[in-house]
Amino acid sequence: MLFADLENSTELTRDMDPEEADELLSAVFGRFEDIVRAHEGSVEKYIGDAMVAVFGVPTIHEDDAERAVYCGIELLRELPSISGPSGEDLGLKMRIGVHSGLITTGTRGEFDVVTGSTMNVASRIQEAAASGELLISEDSAQLCSRDMELGPARRVRVKGVKEPLTLYPVSHGKQAIVRREEFVGREHLLGEIQRQYFLPPAGNFQGFLLTGEPGIGKTELVHQCIKAIEEQSTSPVELLFSRARKFRRQPYIVIVDFIANYFRVHPGMDEAEITKQLCNSPDKVNIGDRPAASRFARFYRDRSGITLRDQAFEILNGLLNELLQSMGRDSRVIMFIDNSDSMDRKSMDFLKFFFKQRTNSPMVILCEREPRAETDEIIPGLQHREIPPLTQEEGAKLLDILGTPDNPQLRELLLNQSKGNPLYLRSYAGHVERLGKEGRNTVTDEGIPDSIQNLFLSRIEGYNPDIRDLIIKLSVFSHFFSTIDAETVQRLTSGDPAIVPGALEFYISEDLLEEDRGIYYFRHDLIKRALYNSILNYNKRILHRIVADIMREQDHPHPVRLLHHLVHSREIRMAVEHAADSRTRAYNMEFVPYLEIMEKEIGKAPEFRLDILFMRARILFNNGFVTQADSIVKEMLGISIDEKTWLYGAVALHILTAYNIRSHRFEKGIFCGSRSLQYYRRCDDREFHLHRGLVANSRHHAQAAVLSLMIQSESKRGNWENAEALLGELAQAEHRIYQIQSEVQLSMYRGRYLYALELIEASPFHSGSVGDDMLKPTVPVLSFLSGKWDQLGAICDEMIASAQRDSVNRVAAYSYKAVYLWHLNPENPEIDTVMEQSSFRSSQSPNIFDRISNACLRAEVLLILGRLSEAEEEARSGLLLAQRHSTYHELFTLLVLLGEIHAARDDREGAAFFISDAMGMCGSFPSLRRRDRISCLYFSTLLHAGEEQGCSQDLGELCRLEEEQLVPDSGLKNLKRTRFFQEIYESLEEYPMGNENPDGQGIKS
Ligand SMILES: Nc1ncnc2c1ncn2[C@@H]1O[C@H](COP(=O)(O)OP(=O)(O)OP(=O)(O)O)[C@@H](O)[C@H]1O
Ligand SMILES: [Mg+2]
Repeated sequence: MLFADLENSTELTRDMDPEEADELLSAVFGRFEDIVRAHEGSVEKYIGDAMVAVFGVPTIHEDDAERAVYCGIELLRELPSISGPSGEDLGLKMRIGVHSGLITTGTRGEFDVVTGSTMNVASRIQEAAASGELLISEDSAQLCSRDMELGPARRVRVKGVKEPLTLYPVSHGKQAIVRREEFVGREHLLGEIQRQYFLPPAGNFQGFLLTGEPGIGKTELVHQCIKAIEEQSTSPVELLFSRARKFRRQPYIVIVDFIANYFRVHPGMDEAEITKQLCNSPDKVNIGDRPAASRFARFYRDRSGITLRDQAFEILNGLLNELLQSMGRDSRVIMFIDNSDSMDRKSMDFLKFFFKQRTNSPMVILCEREPRAETDEIIPGLQHREIPPLTQEEGAKLLDILGTPDNPQLRELLLNQSKGNPLYLRSYAGHVERLGKEGRNTVTDEGIPDSIQNLFLSRIEGYNPDIRDLIIKLSVFSHFFSTIDAETVQRLTSGDPAIVPGALEFYISEDLLEEDRGIYYFRHDLIKRALYNSILNYNKRILHRIVADIMREQDHPHPVRLLHHLVHSREIRMAVEHAADSRTRAYNMEFVPYLEIMEKEIGKAPEFRLDILFMRARILFNNGFVTQADSIVKEMLGISIDEKTWLYGAVALHILTAYNIRSHRFEKGIFCGSRSLQYYRRCDDREFHLHRGLVANSRHHAQAAVLSLMIQSESKRGNWENAEALLGELAQAEHRIYQIQSEVQLSMYRGRYLYALELIEASPFHSGSVGDDMLKPTVPVLSFLSGKWDQLGAICDEMIASAQRDSVNRVAAYSYKAVYLWHLNPENPEIDTVMEQSSFRSSQSPNIFDRISNACLRAEVLLILGRLSEAEEEARSGLLLAQRHSTYHELFTLLVLLGEIHAARDDREGAAFFISDAMGMCGSFPSLRRRDRISCLYFSTLLHAGEEQGCSQDLGELCRLEEEQLVPDSGLKNLKRTRFFQEIYESLEEYPMGNENPDGQGIKS
């Protein structure tokens, strides 16, 4: 029995007169009835706008259930093509439920009627279906042939039925595939995973990483496992499913899909529908919170992921946590990520963070082709299982099931050719079957193709030439394409765009492609690769160029995909320009392999060699791949010497300057810096105009950049005079922005916060300009230090909204935001959310120095918030790195913070350990943060009862200096609310400057 509800009939007919409406609806329902009849069913009646169709009445067929389901599929497929009287798009929407069971027919008055529980259940199933979904009951599923394509089972409680029903969504595109009977072997793995599921969760969490070559049966195995678990389990199995795809534009797509798949959200839905779907899910899980749901809906609808970009993490983290909690209430959740090796960076970062936070976690199953070290990093402790080839016996069994002729010679050939890979075996068996139907004898007449690639190609040979050419052309797209993309390719390669929609349908029916949300993918990479390899190199280039052009028309083309096509069309010049203009050029590791190819092709654009080397070195350095980056620098220096060119040397030394300063090797940094300046001085300004990828586009600009690095270096080690002298030099380079930036930094290190802020305020740069980007990141810390709290809140919001690329800036924006909120109201629950963001952002730091800075900042903020154990953990991890890499500012701050954390716990001994260590550094470095020095001196005095001579005097002096740098009135008040400053200032009042602390009795609790 099939229940189909036309959802939007009222809207459809709202503005019509009754007669018109009637006419339209009968036309529409007429089409539906045709479809039902075509499947040999009969429309029994209408209940409101729901059509009730039965199959097997009056004549029973063996496959009534299946025909009902196929009828449902066709109804959904046909829906978009049903148009109004003048051809307008009606936008029909339907939900369908199918159930099988006994039907009572009787007569009431003069009609035969169908009643009974089967109909009730079917109607309830229909109500449980999402818009545009076909949902079938377990009973119907059982009766369907094994090739029916079902999504993951869902347990739904419906009115009037005691037990929850197991329902399966049926895809009318091809998505998650459950083949139900034709499964052979794998008993051992199946058993192991099942056992694991039923074991009481021990330790953190359990999970499996299943690996194996394409087609070996990873996805299938997981489906079988879930099915088996479901059969054994008394409570419903809760499943979160997501399939990773490369190069999807939407950030965190894997997480988005978990939620979307669970709530049956699909791209046909608008925001309101999605929100409704999340809030009123028919299952027991309810996301309740409307704003969260509607924010998800907005995020989901924007495929480019630009809207709400900065809130994405928060939205998804909140939803997923809530979802897991309510799902896991009375059963164990399985989280399944298929093809996890194609996961995007953001999703990986998210999961890594997510699993670190959770203690009771779901059972995780990942599938990927090659085991990768990264996966282990994301979710440590997954048990790795490689899926072996089928044995000869298992293969033979599969051939039996597939109905391959009982010809020993043929069977042996097939088994050998397919090497135990079920996909190959199936494909070969299909090939044999097709030939058999054509009356050809495979073994003797043609032989079978000797590789799976050739098998696919030979299959395609049989297509009509247009259809064959099109699929070959489409293999040029990296990973996916839309109908419009395919049509454009056709148009630009003198093919016929009109054949595209039909052809795509055909490819799907041939299992070559699959469709997901209007985007087409190759079903198997192997097919794609076989097709791609069959294209002549010359044509490949042309096709890539076409795809690149298509992408360049888009608003936000995926930067890596575009680079892929530019590089493969050998448009090296354009590729350099694209990479150089990209927002993420300084960080994006995905660029590196393409930059390597570009280098090999450098003959095409020799003038860009330097740009390519530079871009590659910069990305590698920024991501902490120092050795690799270093060898590029060496190469650049080599070229400079061999070819006697100044520019190569200048750029190489420039990189070395930045790197050394970053690594706190100031001496070396200054040395490289002055050499780089010398080299730049000898360059011709015109040379710069040839380059797109360098930091600077003129000689002056480049020199200013180097000088500012050198000033930073001198400021950090407290060589104020040298720094001032360099500033004077920089003034002549006439690059105001570097000048201001350097002066701001110098002032900050000297503890002149207010002056630094004045400099920024008086600068001619304003919101949105490049200069602004260089100055803004220092504003939060300066506002915080000087006690300008109102400004602090505003600037943090601004930085959060501008989606800072630099990890340290991002972490700073969220952490200071938390302090700001705390300042207004320490109980504000939003503080936790913001700190979670800060923690997540900091987990993404690509290199050690960012990690150290972030640890330092976060430890201080956590201490202010009173979250001591987190503060300690953060400080300890930072301390280890800071020791190891001799970053002494941070080392000092972290030691003091650890001292304070212990003091706050009344752990005198612990505090003494860290404070003494810090005291040892105090005298030697003039540029250490004053605020930390104050704290250090205070605790040292307190703990050692005056052993440190003259401490209190210094303390008084430092406090006076610090006070001068605070906003009058409010600044000091605010400062006192943080860390121990209240106590410190009180102690000064009690024991005025110069007096020793008389009792030193230890720390107040
Ligand atoms: N043990 C098995 N018995 C019978 N058929 C199988 C078995 N394992 C897999 N298959 C079939 O082989 C085909 C490929 O399997 P599947 O899609 O699971 O491979 P995969 O390893 O996930 O490949 P990919 O890396 O491309 O995702 C499917 O049609 C599947 O139904
Ligand atoms: Mg798979």
